[in-house]
Amino acid sequence: MLILDGKIASRAVIDTLKTEVEQIKLTGKRTPHLAAILIGNNGASETYVASKVKHCDEIGFGSTLIRLADNISEAELIATITELNNNDAIDGILVQLPLPKHISEQNIIMAINPAKDVDGFHPVSVGKLVQGLPTFIPATPYGIMLMLEHFNITTKGKHAVVIGRSNIVGRPMSILLSSNQPYGNCTVTVCHSHTPNLNEICLQGDIIVAALGRAEFVKANMVKEGAVVIDVGITRVEDPTAKKGYRIKGDVAYNEVAPRTSAITPVPGGVGLMTIAGLMKNTLQAYKAIGK
Ligand code: GUN
Repeated sequence: MLILDGKIASRAVIDTLKTEVEQIKLTGKRTPHLAAILIGNNGASETYVASKVKHCDEIGFGSTLIRLADNISEAELIATITELNNNDAIDGILVQLPLPKHISEQNIIMAINPAKDVDGFHPVSVGKLVQGLPTFIPATPYGIMLMLEHFNITTKGKHAVVIGRSNIVGRPMSILLSSNQPYGNCTVTVCHSHTPNLNEICLQGDIIVAALGRAEFVKANMVKEGAVVIDVGITRVEDPTAKKGYRIKGDVAYNEVAPRTSAITPVPGGVGLMTIAGLMKNTLQAYKAIGK
């Protein structure tokens, strides 16, 4: 059984980006720059955004973190995004999700200039993805594709079962795995909360992508011997014995599932790190396109 180590695969991507940015700086050009908007003080969002900023620093990107109170109005948030859209020094814009309930996620995503949509959530980006056109691929599915590539996992002709149909992970993942491209060409089944025979379908998966957000949902009896299992889950589960008072659990019951697999991502240390790598690649891509 191969552990698909996100530390190793993301390091390879980050190091390549670092080298590219060094080259850009040597030519005296402007530095690529990511702007992140963080609203309120959701603990998980704080952690993710801090990690994104830290990786920008490491690669040599500039970064701006804009923190806004969770009672900000939708109009004020859109005004902030518009300023970033119009700022030529900013290449990529991300608004960390989830948003406070009084703000429409769709309106916010639509306010971002598609040329700076490094999360790949804008309908223009999604439309291009569906049609197989170059675009920003949402960071988590992108990271998973980079992981499959790094470990040279065969996907062509395989049956991939994606559990979850979110705009952030499940839906774009299903599109990528079914696309006619390297590390695509799978037959894809998308399972969700209304799938009655989920266990049976999972058992048919040569590749399982678990992205439903329920700790340890995928059990050993749902996984075919030799399957490749990609665990996207990062649920905080209370644990008084843990230093922080919680532990991060994946969507897969790792200890019982791992021995059945041919390859599996750990949590933490798997897909999460690849998400950052995907976002960083998108930021450089935005810079290059805007710089032209
Ligand atoms: N919340 C959970 N995942 C993501 C992501 O990939 N991007 C943003 N902006 N918010 C998220």
